[in-house]
Amino acid sequence: MHSAFAPASPQAHLVATLWWWMLGVGSAIWLAVIATMLYVTLARRGRRGPDDLQHVPDATRRRMERVVLGAGSLTVLVLAAFLAFDFSVGHALTQHPQRALTIDITGHQWWWEAEYEDPDPSKRLTTANEIHVPTGEPVQFKLRSADVIHSFWAPNLNGKKDLIPGYLSTLWFEADTAGVYRGQCAEFCGLQHAKMAFYVVAEPRAKFQAWLAAGAQSPPPPTDSTQLYGQRVFLSSGCAVCHTIGGTAAQAFVGPPLTHVMSRATIAAGALANTRANLMAWITNPQAIKPGARMPAVPLTGPQLAALVDYLGTLK
Ligand code: CUA
Repeated sequence: MHSAFAPASPQAHLVATLWWWMLGVGSAIWLAVIATMLYVTLARRGRRGPDDLQHVPDATRRRMERVVLGAGSLTVLVLAAFLAFDFSVGHALTQHPQRALTIDITGHQWWWEAEYEDPDPSKRLTTANEIHVPTGEPVQFKLRSADVIHSFWAPNLNGKKDLIPGYLSTLWFEADTAGVYRGQCAEFCGLQHAKMAFYVVAEPRAKFQAWLAAGAQSPPPPTDSTQLYGQRVFLSSGCAVCHTIGGTAAQAFVGPPLTHVMSRATIAAGALANTRANLMAWITNPQAIKPGARMPAVPLTGPQLAALVDYLGTLK
């Protein structure tokens, strides 16, 4: 789901309420102006008015002045009310809770890195493009960029917030309805800006806790000979220069960590569904799917590719 009209957090509710009020009052004013214009045009048709304002009777002139003054004051009042409303919503959105689960988000061209803060480094989990959060709890996001300006935007949960290189910004929300919410980079950041999506999976605390605990574990080493061969391909063909797989020598963060890649619904930051065929297509020719992406085509033979994808399939 990806819509600012289906708020799933108190924060998104505030934004949506403000928006509906602006739409409602703006539409009412527009209709009133158009109706007045039509009335004046039609009611006065064929009647000839005075050539200049000097000849308008005093009573009529005073009435006209009152109408203009009234409409002007009403405009100022409406704008001032919206200014106050807007400030109060903005204020509420920046009230950061003192204690909250904190997720460090780093924007990359073109994927999202998400690290779950924990005082115990062994429990710290880093994942990509799919962010799990517990429902009914405030979650704080610390936003950074590794390269250019990106913007973190999950419209069902809160407004946009830019990720600016060399600057830390924060955003928070409290998902009140379990679900999967699509997010999208909302600041043009290069060729594949459009294919820089992410998903927020909001789930009850127990389910979230289980996901977090599983995510901090390294996957079991492969046992099957094809999968073992696939792991050797991964570690020796250049994949390990950019990616991390927990429990192996691959520990790089140029591309998304793959430790539990099979637990994610999509690959390449939401560009493709995570299926065996798509994984193969992506590894074979990423530039055909996401031109400009940092992922190069990896020259592999058919059996190497099949074994590699078999091995990736074990990373649940
Ligand atoms: Cu990142 Cu647009």
